[in-house]
Amino acid sequence: MSPVPGIDRSRLPVHVACVMDGNGRWAQRRGLPRTEGHAAGEEALFDAVEGALELGVKWLTVYAFSTENWRRPPDEVRYLMKFNESLLARRRDELHERGVRIQFLGRRDWRVPRRLLKRMNESIELTRHNRTMTLMIAFNYGGRAEIVDAVRALASAGTPPAKIDERAIRAHLYHPDMPDPDLVIRTSGEYRISNFLLWELAYSELVFTDVLWPDFRRDHLFDAVREFQRRNRRFGGIDGDEAGSTDT
Ligand code: IPE
Ligand code: IPE
Ligand code: MG
Repeated sequence: MSPVPGIDRSRLPVHVACVMDGNGRWAQRRGLPRTEGHAAGEEALFDAVEGALELGVKWLTVYAFSTENWRRPPDEVRYLMKFNESLLARRRDELHERGVRIQFLGRRDWRVPRRLLKRMNESIELTRHNRTMTLMIAFNYGGRAEIVDAVRALASAGTPPAKIDERAIRAHLYHPDMPDPDLVIRTSGEYRISNFLLWELAYSELVFTDVLWPDFRRDHLFDAVREFQRRNRRFGGIDGDEAGSTDT
């Protein structure tokens, strides 16, 4: 790994999460159908993966489809299902060779096509022993749904109310072993969370950029990491005090 100028390797974010937004606008600005923007987002995603590997980031989460994205026109939803299925089929070997472990975050409900679920399972299986980096793909993911699912699991296990605490809820999130994101990047100039990782990003540093996702490249990731390293994380404490850190 060659050093990246201006980035201190001893203070890297362990977990970077991206809201990959702006595909539709990227396409519309070029007079193309919105779906062309999704297609163009693939290169951005793989350059971001390469950049994260180059830096030595251990977890990269990308928001690929939200529980609210089912509201889109059926043709676009269909396209996104097919596109994600084919992306996994085409690129999982390459990710595997790079030592990337592929995991998914979200509800596996009846709306997710069976063929896509099959590709997801194959990708998880193929890469399960990889340890260089985890690529967490948030698909049919909603932060509220994740909390609801955790609370439901606790209730159905008959957990007494006094035992429902933060530790118990965390233990029932989709991936209890996933560390909270240190850095969340949202592209396309929107300043909102859109139901992404609501529990996990309680103390994440947020970086917003006007770049539309299909134009995103590893240099934008590096810029966001430099910005992250300029921030002073206090976790509710005071300067230099890490005692309140939620990174457990
Ligand atoms: C993000 O790009 C991709 C998904 C939500 C699947 P958008 O499709 O939301 O693009 P804009 O925000 O409409 O430009
Ligand atoms: C968030 O983007 C979801 C993904 C990137 C998958 P949206 O485009 O769906 O968010 P809103 O609708 O602008 O809040
Ligand atoms: Mg959008």
